[in-house]
Amino acid sequence: MTATVIDGKAFAATVREKVAGHVARLSEEHGIVPGLAVVLVGEDPASQVYVRSKGKQTVAAGMKSVERKLEVDKSESELLAVVEELNADPSIHGILVQLPLPAHIDAEAVINAIDPAKDVDGFHILNVGRLGTGQKAMVPCTPLGCLMMLRDHHGSLSGLDAVVIGRSNIVGKPMAQLLLGESCTVTIAHSRTKDLPEVVRRADIVVAAVGRPKMVTGDWIKPGATVIDVGINRVEDRLVGDVDYESCAERAGAITPVPGGVGPMTIACLLANTVTACCRANG
Ligand code: GUN
Repeated sequence: MTATVIDGKAFAATVREKVAGHVARLSEEHGIVPGLAVVLVGEDPASQVYVRSKGKQTVAAGMKSVERKLEVDKSESELLAVVEELNADPSIHGILVQLPLPAHIDAEAVINAIDPAKDVDGFHILNVGRLGTGQKAMVPCTPLGCLMMLRDHHGSLSGLDAVVIGRSNIVGKPMAQLLLGESCTVTIAHSRTKDLPEVVRRADIVVAAVGRPKMVTGDWIKPGATVIDVGINRVEDRLVGDVDYESCAERAGAITPVPGGVGPMTIACLLANTVTACCRANG
């Protein structure tokens, strides 16, 4: 079997088009322009690339983009003051504080200072709790993008066996919650899981989010399974996923490539979350 390639780049373009359509209608019919603020502390090169890309795509969708850059030695209270200012700004509907933050800043305190209604990352404890209890929440962008691709490929996910490899707060845990919400039977596997290949072999859906290059190999994959690769690892100046693409594509029914799979969906979902936050803020 040769897997269907799930083209995240093309799918993300359709999501961005839909977002731009919503933005145009909000503006024409209600005079409202959704606004996204991205806060960056320090000069981490990877974070700078992400922040620039977020800003560009926000503007391309017709939205207002605000970038707030703070020097690496700014204090936690200075960052909290910026968050408070953005919380109070009615032209800003989404706030994202780029992670990782410098070690002297308590990231959890900063995230929980964001107005939960503007928390387009879905990292605020209130949104985490809402997602966990099946209430209306802001949903983290990367798992949301994965879910959109899975729904698009499968239609209903009800009753499928899903294995999420990785238990991070940003991807693994919210991904598992979303799949549970789709009535999958969900296993969260991690570094201490016994016989990981055997666990993964049971899965109709595999989501790999561990940050270990090419860890998942074809012999772990149930024939016909769908493989979603969240990993972005730089190896000898090339980007590779957590999945060994070549061997897995021989057994899988469908697979996301790296690059061009999950990655582009993340920013598209950030734009979609900003429009959602804007619509909720305006009733
Ligand atoms: N750094 C890497 N990924 C993310 C993300 O999804 N949100 C934020 N805020 N920072 C990140």
